[in-house]
Order: sequence, then C-alpha cells, then structure tokens
Amino acid sequence: MDLEKIVIEVCMGSSCFSRGNKRNLEILQDYIRKEHLDGTVDVRGKLCAGSCKKGPTITINGNLYSGVTPSLLKTLLQTLSDRKGLGHG
Ligand code: FES
Repeated sequence: MDLEKIVIEVCMGSSCFSRGNKRNLEILQDYIRKEHLDGTVDVRGKLCAGSCKKGPTITINGNLYSGVTPSLLKTLLQTLSDRKGLGHG
C-alpha cells in the first residue's frame, strides 16, 4: 500500500529549539525508529516561523501546531498513526 508521505517540520529557530524542540526532535526520531516509519514520515528542520511567542512550533503536513510539549507531540503522533494505519508490522 502506498501511504501518503507525512512531512513533519520542526522549528529550529533558537527560541523554539531552547523552549522544547530539541527534546521534541529526539522524541520524533525515537518514535520513527521504533515504529519503522523512515519511509513514511519525513522529518525536516525549518527556520523560525515567526510564531516564537507561541513556540515551540511544529508543522505537520502544513498545519502549524504551537506550544508543542512532549506529551502533545506524542498525542499528535498517535493520532497520525491511527489515521494512517501506521505502525503495522
Ligand atoms: S523560533 Fe520557532 S517560530 Fe520563531
């Protein structure tokens, strides 16, 4: 089955990075490794999105999420997995 690729962009601006995206990036990479999603989820760094006050920000398929805590990130990943039927085999 050809799954649509999921693009997750992690803001690497200094504000977001120090507010939590450093940790979020580790969580993301861990999740992808554990669930074998390398071919399905494309993780990219991106430059400041201009929403520093609401950071840390992460964009998933063009939707910007702000104030992304590790627990929110895990919820988002879980939602994606459920929707896409990811995490099989
Ligand atoms: S540093 Fe991430 S939005 Fe500015």
